[in-house]
Amino acid sequence: MLNVGVIGYGYWGPNIVRNFHRPDRSNVSMVCDKSADMLRRVAQTYPSIPTTTNVDDILTSTKIDVVAVVTPVWTHYELAKRALQNGKHVFVEKPFTSNTTQAEELIELAARKNLRIMVDHTFLFTGAVRKIRQLVEEGTLGNLYYYDSTRVNLGLFQHDVNVIWDLAPHDLSIMDHVLKGSPEAVVATGQGHLNGHEDVAFMTIYYPEKVIAHINVNWLSPVKVRTTLIGGEKRMLVWNDLDPDEKIKVYDKGVNVSSREGVYELLVSYRSGDMWAPQLEQVEALRQEMSYFVECINSGTDPFNDGRAGLRVVKMLEAASESLSKKGALVYL
Ligand SMILES: NC(=O)c1ccc[n+]([C@@H]2O[C@H](COP(=O)([O-])OP(=O)(O)OC[C@H]3O[C@@H](n4cnc5c(N)ncnc54)[C@H](O)[C@@H]3O)[C@@H](O)[C@H]2O)c1
Repeated sequence: MLNVGVIGYGYWGPNIVRNFHRPDRSNVSMVCDKSADMLRRVAQTYPSIPTTTNVDDILTSTKIDVVAVVTPVWTHYELAKRALQNGKHVFVEKPFTSNTTQAEELIELAARKNLRIMVDHTFLFTGAVRKIRQLVEEGTLGNLYYYDSTRVNLGLFQHDVNVIWDLAPHDLSIMDHVLKGSPEAVVATGQGHLNGHEDVAFMTIYYPEKVIAHINVNWLSPVKVRTTLIGGEKRMLVWNDLDPDEKIKVYDKGVNVSSREGVYELLVSYRSGDMWAPQLEQVEALRQEMSYFVECINSGTDPFNDGRAGLRVVKMLEAASESLSKKGALVYL
């Protein structure tokens, strides 16, 4: 039974507390938020969990094994570092840190102290992403051509980061998990209309073997869209995360290109076969993710969504920021 201290009980914190507070494997032994109003909500739902406005009560407690950092991005590094220095395993929200130097330092510190870091790349534990990874690995889609995601809605505006740092980590972590090869270069464009941070942005990522990815993120959309297209040589899929029943549809569609000998024209033919919607595991992603973290801690192994996975995502975000500042210049990774 691991004892977890959770720091941050705003929008996302309650999900973390609910999923770590399970009688079978881990116990939330304290929740900290600097706002007393937020802590009143903890007392209403979990009267037995002690609360505090002082992070040191969690960071220096001898009874706590794991610290979950569920605060705004700019605070992740300092809180995670102090937790590791005090011998705690760390669960950190996405994106891992505000820059790559911080991420590298935390990875090195955890390795030196033989502690585990898990970065909350929640989507990797959904039935949909697990299925997509399986389909790609089995070769159902064939060699991949592209990954194209639209992740837009109205708000929630973050105060400390732009829409790329807020929403794109979901896609970047999925791409890191599903696409083969390391990304080579990033282009990002965007515009901020309200609070100085970009609220509408577009990111293009170049991979080896002509694989290209595009991410459209937007806090100013009148409707919520969560749709990803993944195109391969053999088949293509559409993942609509808002569809309750058939989130993934695989299309047996494609393009065949051949050239007739002696004729200088390309023969393009289109293939259009069946569509099928694979069965997906119906599990709460966070629940799976946290059980896995407890297993990793107990067995002394690093999770696949460890600090290094977090760092790979931060690298792409940092490159996107550089490209944004140069109005869409190509930035090599
Ligand atoms: N994995 C996901 O799908 C997902 C979804 C939403 C948010 N998040 C991440 O969760 C983190 C928090 O986001 P949110 O939307 O819950 O933010 P939020 O602003 O709603 O909540 C953050 C809370 O942290 C508290 N806080 C800030 N600094 C603190 C400190 N030093 N000590 C103690 N408490 C402190 C604030 O008072 C606030 O209640 C972000 O990193 C965000 O990217 C992840």
